[in-house]
Amino acid sequence: MSGPAERILISSGQIQKRVQEMAAQIEADYPEGPLYVVSVLKGAFIFVADLVRALKRSSVRIEFMGISSYGNQKSSSGQVKVTRDLDVNIEGQNVLIVEDIIDSGVTLSYLKRLLEQRHPKSLAIATLLDKPEKRIAPVDVKYTGFRIPDEFVVGYGLDFAEDYRNLSDICILTPGDD
Ligand code: PRP
Repeated sequence: MSGPAERILISSGQIQKRVQEMAAQIEADYPEGPLYVVSVLKGAFIFVADLVRALKRSSVRIEFMGISSYGNQKSSSGQVKVTRDLDVNIEGQNVLIVEDIIDSGVTLSYLKRLLEQRHPKSLAIATLLDKPEKRIAPVDVKYTGFRIPDEFVVGYGLDFAEDYRNLSDICILTPGDD
C-alpha cells in the first residue's frame, strides 16, 4: 500500500531561471508607471511572490482575486464566480493577470472579460504553466513560463486536495495503490 508519488517535472532551479526571464521581459514591456499585478488565489501565490521580487521597478501594486468554477474536480463546467474581488480601481492602469496554470482556459477567459469591462489601459496575462491540449476557451496569453503535457501537476503553489502547494519543484502526481 502506498499513497500518491511525486516525480519532478520542472525543478526549482528551472523555475527560478524562467521566472527571472519572464520578469525581465515584463520589465522591458512596461517601462513606466505603476504596474497592477492581479493574482488569482490560491495557486498563483508562490509564483507571484517570486515574479514580483524579480521585477526591478518600484511601482508594482499587488492585488488578489478569488475565483471559483463549478463542476466536478476534474473538469470545469464553464460556470465561474468571483469569490473575492479587487478593492482598487484599475481604470486607465496597466494590469497584468498572474496565474499558475491554464487548463481549459475557462477561468482566465472569464476573468479577462470581467476586467476588460473596467477599462484598464492595458490587460495582459502571465502564466507559469500552460496545458494547451486542455484548452476549450481561447485565451490570449502574453507570457508563458512552460508548456506542459496533460499530466496532473502539483507543487510551487499547485495542489491536490489542498496538499503539495509547498513543494519547491513542480511534480507529476501519480496515484498510489491504497
Ligand atoms: C486552477 C488555476 C486556475 C484554474 C485554471 O485553480 O489556478 O485558476 O484552475 O483552470 P482552467 O483553465 O481550466 O479554468 P483551482 O481551481 O485549482 O484553484 P486554486 O488555485 O485555489 O488551487
